[in-house]
Amino acid sequence: MAGDTTNRQLYLQQRPEGIPTTEDIRLREVPLKDPGEGEVQLRNLYLSLDPAQRDWMSDNLSYMPPIAIGECIRSTSLGRVVASRHPDFEEGDYAVGLACNGWEEYSTAPGEMLAKVEKDGRHPLRYHLSIFSGAMGMTPYFGMLELGQPKPGETVLMSAAAGAVGSVAGQIAKIKGCRVVGLTGSDEKCQWLINELGFDDAINYKRCDNLADAIAEACPERVDIYFDNVGGKMLDAALLNLNDFARVVFCGAISTYNETGPKPGPYNYWQILARSAKVLGLLTTNYVDRFPEALRDLSQWVDDGKLKFAEDIVDGLGNTVEAYSRLFTGGNKGKLLVRLSDEAD
Ligand SMILES: NC(=O)c1ccc[n+]([C@@H]2O[C@H](COP(=O)([O-])OP(=O)(O)OC[C@H]3O[C@@H](n4cnc5c(N)ncnc54)[C@H](OP(=O)(O)O)[C@@H]3O)[C@@H](O)[C@H]2O)c1
Repeated sequence: MAGDTTNRQLYLQQRPEGIPTTEDIRLREVPLKDPGEGEVQLRNLYLSLDPAQRDWMSDNLSYMPPIAIGECIRSTSLGRVVASRHPDFEEGDYAVGLACNGWEEYSTAPGEMLAKVEKDGRHPLRYHLSIFSGAMGMTPYFGMLELGQPKPGETVLMSAAAGAVGSVAGQIAKIKGCRVVGLTGSDEKCQWLINELGFDDAINYKRCDNLADAIAEACPERVDIYFDNVGGKMLDAALLNLNDFARVVFCGAISTYNETGPKPGPYNYWQILARSAKVLGLLTTNYVDRFPEALRDLSQWVDDGKLKFAEDIVDGLGNTVEAYSRLFTGGNKGKLLVRLSDEAD
């Protein structure tokens, strides 16, 4: 609040083994510093909870450096500008920082790393951290359209299909005329995919004796695009069902994020050769310059009722770590967010 001199934040106490706990990530109060030259200070309204943060908590070679021990948990957030020393931002503006803010009440970042967002009278501002965000909007948009290259009549298999990325990527494939089958971890989520989002079929992978057989049954014409959010055994089962010239969009591998030690590669990698398939690595930040075109399409589809989505909102910084574990247990449906203020609702 105005005049605050302290900032409450969640920081990395130790590198987690398995699902992060409050032993690994702790809450502290630190003095709130003024922004430096070129920096902008936000009072965070919403924090994004993303599987990628689990990778940053480990000491892995990745596309971003690990979060250092003692450092605030790096995050995407939506906030209101409370102080600015950057010419493009002034107090009262709203902005999103893509993977440059933190799980904290106030974040301070260079102005170049923030994107201003404005109330458009049609959508709540918080949509910029859900359906219009890098994670839930841009990732499925560019992953499906640029890498998947869906064609009418093709079969798309979607893993983590009831999650933020999967639920949207599957509907984009439907908009492009594909037959879409989702993989998810509960009967309730399967029903939601079919009845609410228009998926053609859904498989509860937790109730399958043989996942490769279940996919074969649900995809009698085999799989042209496998959108991989999960990796591991699910990827192996999908590889056994590829069509000739299939595309495997490698978006993530959440089933492996909590493993320690070397992670085995796919056992059925040979299927890539046998099916003349392609594996395409997705990094959404490569498309930042094209976010405006995606935003136009996504908002139109939302307004036309062609694109539905769920937000899973948890209140309070203190509940963030418990909420985060839900990404790995399947306890979330749609985009998982923490609300610090209802100003963006
Ligand atoms: N490449 C990029 O630029 C980029 C950007 C954003 C996200 N991603 C990736 O996209 C994927 C989805 O992210 P998200 O934010 O949309 O998360 P999410 O799908 O909303 O949440 C994760 C879901 O994954 C499923 N899951 C967790 N552990 C699993 C396991 N062992 N086996 C099978 N399913 C499991 C759970 O759903 P069930 O109930 O169905 O099990 C859970 O709800 C992640 O791999 C993430 O790293 C990549």
